[in-house]
Formats: sequence, C-alpha cells, structure tokens
Amino acid sequence: MKGVVLAGGTGSRLRPLTQIINKHLLPVGDLPMIQYAIDKLCQGGVQDILMITGKQSAGLYVDFLGSGDAFGVNLTYKIQEKPGGIAQALALAEGFVEKGEKFVVILGDNLFQDSLQPFIDSYNQQAEGAMVLLKEVEDPRRYGVALMKNEHIAVIEEKPEHPKSPFAVTGIYLYDSTVFDIIKSQSPSARGEMEITDVNNVYAASGILSHMLLKGWWIDAGTHESLFQATLLVRKEHS
Ligand code: G1P
Repeated sequence: MKGVVLAGGTGSRLRPLTQIINKHLLPVGDLPMIQYAIDKLCQGGVQDILMITGKQSAGLYVDFLGSGDAFGVNLTYKIQEKPGGIAQALALAEGFVEKGEKFVVILGDNLFQDSLQPFIDSYNQQAEGAMVLLKEVEDPRRYGVALMKNEHIAVIEEKPEHPKSPFAVTGIYLYDSTVFDIIKSQSPSARGEMEITDVNNVYAASGILSHMLLKGWWIDAGTHESLFQATLLVRKEHS
C-alpha cells in the first residue's frame, strides 16, 4: 500500500512560530514533527510515500528527508500552490495513486501511539469504500466528530459547537482511488476550503465508511498547547 502525508496549510494557530517555518517542521521532542508520520508509515510497511507540502519551507523538507533513503522509505514530493483545504491537497495524489489502488493518508500534525499495521490489514480486507480512525476525546469541538448509528458512522460534523458524540475523527484515513472522483464532485465550504469531512460524508451516506478506534494516545499538534502536550508524550514514550 502507498502512503500520502499532507504537510501544507498555514499553521495559523501556531503563529508566530509558523511565520518563519512550516508547522510540520517544528520540533516535537527530539525530532521535526514530520518524521513521526514517516516513521509510522515505514513501521506499518508503507514505503512508497508522497509528501504534499506548501511552498513555504518546501526546500527544507527536501534538505531533511531527501529521497527518504535514510528513513527506509521512497519519497515523492508535490507542492500545493495555495492552502485550499485538506481535500484539495489530497487531490494532488491522483496519478501517484493509480486506479484501483488503496492508500493511507496521514495529516502531518497528527501524532499517535498505535501501529498502523492492524488498520491497514483490516482495510485491505474491505471490499469498497473508505476507513477513518476514531479516538474518544474529552473535548471534540476542535475536530470532525463522528455521529454513530447502529455502530456505523451516520455522518461526521466538522468542528461542531455542540458535539453529539465523543468520537473525534483523526487525521488518518484509508481510501481507494475513487476518492479522487468524490473530491472533484465537491465544492468549497463556508470557510473557503475543500473539506475532507465532506468527502468522508459521501462515503458515510452510501454506508461504505468503516471505522476503527485508536487504542493509544493521539494528538493533533496544531496549537501551542497541543504541540507542548505532544512533546511531553513523545519524550515519555522514547525515554
Ligand atoms: C482536520 C479535519 C478534522 C480532523 C482533524 C484531525 O482539522 O478537518 O476533521 O478531526 O484534522 O487532526 P484541522 O486540524 O486541519 O482543522
């Protein structure tokens, strides 16, 4: 299976740090944030990886990661010209992922403890559709929130003020190449972005969005507070 790491975006919630460097290159413990996604993919048996970055700091990604050799992976790079949402960035993976192929997507600011292997194995058994990974959290308002019905995801609400469940949709997604047609059928949301949640809801409406739960810790290191928490978690894990 191939992998795609999305590392664009403006990182507005991490200003002023992100005025000088892209969010996914900020330090988390001993490593730049981006290395965690690459290592997780490699350990999950995913070696062929597309990195999608913005223009800011693009050269630094290449400086640090190079061909991927030093990390046990084979990297391809693509540039998202302007931030336009996660789904817009993901659309750039068409071509890297061939028709009929399955792949795993990680948002570069998502750090987590679980191995990807069981999720990839399970998705490989799935006949059609997509899979999202969920994590029960105390305050789901910052995330996509999965509304469950008969143990299936009925719909995902993006950053709801009054979440109807404690299940955050993490930034780890498994798709097949039909996702590119779905992205093309979508329009930007009220905040002007192509939302990954809208894409996932197309699968949910057809009853082909499966899910699994992360067992270990998970963090979206997109704010100062969560970046600090992420540092504590990875330091504890690697000490
Ligand atoms: C994005 C997704 C959201 C998801 C989150 C996970 O939000 O839109 O559904 O729960 O990633 O990290 P963002 O953090 O880009 O605002």
